[in-house]
Amino acid sequence: MGVSVTEQPLIELDGVEKVFDVRRKTGFLKRERRQVRAVDSLSFTVARGEMVGYIGPNGAGKSTTIKMLTGILTPSAGRLRVAGIDPSRERTRLAHRIGVVFGQRTTLWWDLPLIDSYRLMHRMYRIPDARYRENLDRCVELLELGDLLESPVRQLSLGQRMRGDIAAALLHDPEVLYLDEPTIGLDVISKAKVRGFLKELNAELGTTVLLTTHDLQDIEQLCSRVMVIDHGRLMYDGALAGLHEVGESERTLVVDLERELPPVDVAPARVVKVEGPRQWLAFPAGESAAALVARIAAEYPLADLSVREPDIEDVIARMYAGAVPGRSEKAVS
Ligand SMILES: Nc1ncnc2c1ncn2[C@@H]1O[C@H](COP(=O)(O)OP(=O)(O)O)[C@@H](O)[C@H]1O
Ligand SMILES: [Mg+2]
Repeated sequence: MGVSVTEQPLIELDGVEKVFDVRRKTGFLKRERRQVRAVDSLSFTVARGEMVGYIGPNGAGKSTTIKMLTGILTPSAGRLRVAGIDPSRERTRLAHRIGVVFGQRTTLWWDLPLIDSYRLMHRMYRIPDARYRENLDRCVELLELGDLLESPVRQLSLGQRMRGDIAAALLHDPEVLYLDEPTIGLDVISKAKVRGFLKELNAELGTTVLLTTHDLQDIEQLCSRVMVIDHGRLMYDGALAGLHEVGESERTLVVDLERELPPVDVAPARVVKVEGPRQWLAFPAGESAAALVARIAAEYPLADLSVREPDIEDVIARMYAGAVPGRSEKAVS
């Protein structure tokens, strides 16, 4: 079946807002009421099969957006649809069509063996037996859960638990998977496993993925499109490469020389910090690290070297330093 041109976006937000009423104790009997605008006139669409990175500084409104997309939170204003469903009105019906993973907390039963959580979900979601088996087998194989199924969840490492959570979110064949910081705190190997799995999920099954992360490599390896939000507003929507340009972001080369030397001089890199024989060189993200490394190695006694990718916080900080209208007066906790 071909994709029709008129196909509706899978996710649609139009002028969505979320305002929280916050009461704060300011004295013995005094309380101050304040409103926090966590999401502010947010509009975007995501087409079926897309894999989109959703990034922004802490408190930007990412988790609030995801909670509205699952129906956990109701928007204060605006229109929101996922697979044609209004999430907060028909949360249960939507639950059969979406999967969600919050990196900071688990949906698995802490004291039960992993497999028991899956069996419970099998019944809760009334997943047909054949489909349950097929999805479980697939996740167990690709997420390497085979040896973990009989272990109580509380005994799993963070990386193992995260893989277990991702499988749990996929047993009912959701059309869209929301991931809120799925790689936070994971070791390099676990991150690679999670990324490899998500890539395959999207390529093979066409599952739409919306991914919130602080790890720029998650985005680089998975997402052709990235949305940046700051103070609840969409600030950028496009390719990651474009974000680098807009943000004029820099990467850092950490150079260990064989001895203390004057600052390394290889334009366009510039030394930003020196500590004994170690020097930190900032260079434009678009520049080839390999070419710079080759030049340094040719001209200096090099003992060791590593490249640090720009942190998303840095990229965003540079991108919007002072440039966002009204950001200073906005109440943000
Ligand atoms: N339940 C809540 N009550 C009051 N304020 C909240 C609540 N949830 C989030 N906020 C506030 O809304 C803003 C956005 O939060 P959040 O969506 O969690 O950001 P992010 O996930 O991007 O770090 C923050 O200022 C946060 O303190
Ligand atoms: Mg969050």
